[in-house]
Amino acid sequence: MTETEPVAFPQDRTCPYHPPPAYDPLRAARPLTRITLYDGRPAWLVSGHAVARELLADQRLSTDRTRAGFPTPTERFAAVSNRTVALLGVDDPRHRVQRRMMIPAFTLKRATELRPEILRIVNEQIDAMIAHGPPADLVTAFALPVPSMVICALLGVPYADHDFFEGQTRRLLRGPTAADTRDARDRLDAYFEELIDRKQKQPEPGGGLLDELVHQQLREGELGREELIALATILLVAGHETTANMISLGTYTLLQHPGRLAELRRDPALLPAAVEELMRLLSIADGLLRMATEDIEVAGATIRAGDGVVFATSVINRDEDAYPEPDTLDWHRSARHHVAFGFGIHQCLGQNLARAELEIALSTLFDRLPTLRLAAPADEIPFKPGDTIQGMLELPVTW
Ligand code: HEM
Repeated sequence: MTETEPVAFPQDRTCPYHPPPAYDPLRAARPLTRITLYDGRPAWLVSGHAVARELLADQRLSTDRTRAGFPTPTERFAAVSNRTVALLGVDDPRHRVQRRMMIPAFTLKRATELRPEILRIVNEQIDAMIAHGPPADLVTAFALPVPSMVICALLGVPYADHDFFEGQTRRLLRGPTAADTRDARDRLDAYFEELIDRKQKQPEPGGGLLDELVHQQLREGELGREELIALATILLVAGHETTANMISLGTYTLLQHPGRLAELRRDPALLPAAVEELMRLLSIADGLLRMATEDIEVAGATIRAGDGVVFATSVINRDEDAYPEPDTLDWHRSARHHVAFGFGIHQCLGQNLARAELEIALSTLFDRLPTLRLAAPADEIPFKPGDTIQGMLELPVTW
């Protein structure tokens, strides 16, 4: 471990697809250093790729956000730490039970079966953009509705409610105050209470994952009602917001790399590698949170029981030892072992679905709108602050 002045974490990016320059000392202090959180509390910051994978697989690090002293990057997070987040905030053995129930709906096979439906949704949104004519805000016209429609279909949530749940997700992840965040969480809870009630009253289950869970696991007592609501919330929130950010920021990044984009259009076989490299470079979920439950000796340091541990994926995914010339967008490298979907037992449940959505959304968008370009100077387009999932706030485009 290298000693440096603790860096404040999180901080804002200055370019939406590069880590904040303020994190340079974290890169210099690989693989592990100290940071200061928003409330002045110290925590460990993991910045080296090998150590990150070792620690993310270490069950002595808990993700249970209800533990006293669990590290929080903003007051917002602290405001909702009184309620258990399903999957992401649950340790084994209960995590294993929840994950096992979810797996059949999120296999590679299921994601492959969903591809025609994803393509239909993507084409429908592009048809609407073309019918309306340029310019458009790609976030509201494309990047957000595509994953929202996909996750609604998968879960059995009515897409007609999208204004409500997209708005509450925005408040949950980026609300102006902690009270706002708590209120958004409560409203999502109330929404799912009612939706689950309705599903329970249906004589035959509908076609979504929530219908299956209501009619099997809830009925058989495998799942409690509160737990099912928590599961529905994480699946809906994580299922649309993250992918929407990757589509908007991925499009922006490709438009800023015209040579790379031209290569991708000439050779669509590069698409899976391109998506993986974009995931690595953009690292939109930048700051995974854990708390040590026992002392852990790692990289010449001792993480003490009770210490907060934060994984800066944007820094980890640019470790020169794992990725030569890490700041360059280059899909001819193998980026597959990046940690942009996490690693270990909490590695993203929706990654197969996210990959399918990203491949189809990005390739179809540039195929059908070959002259797509930014409709405002690149450095004037607003993007999200550092304390939430990274992405574009808006993306004005024309074609
Ligand atoms: C490109 C888009 C996505 C990104 C960048 C992303 C990123 C991540 C990351 C980094 C984690 C691990 C968090 C941690 O270890 O603390 C995670 C977990 C998770 N993701 Fe995703 N995700 C994406 C798409 C999705 C989609 C489409 C779903 C669909 C429901 C989803 C559902 C989940 C769930 C449920 C977890 C928790 C898994 C567990 O704890 O077992 N994600 N995601």
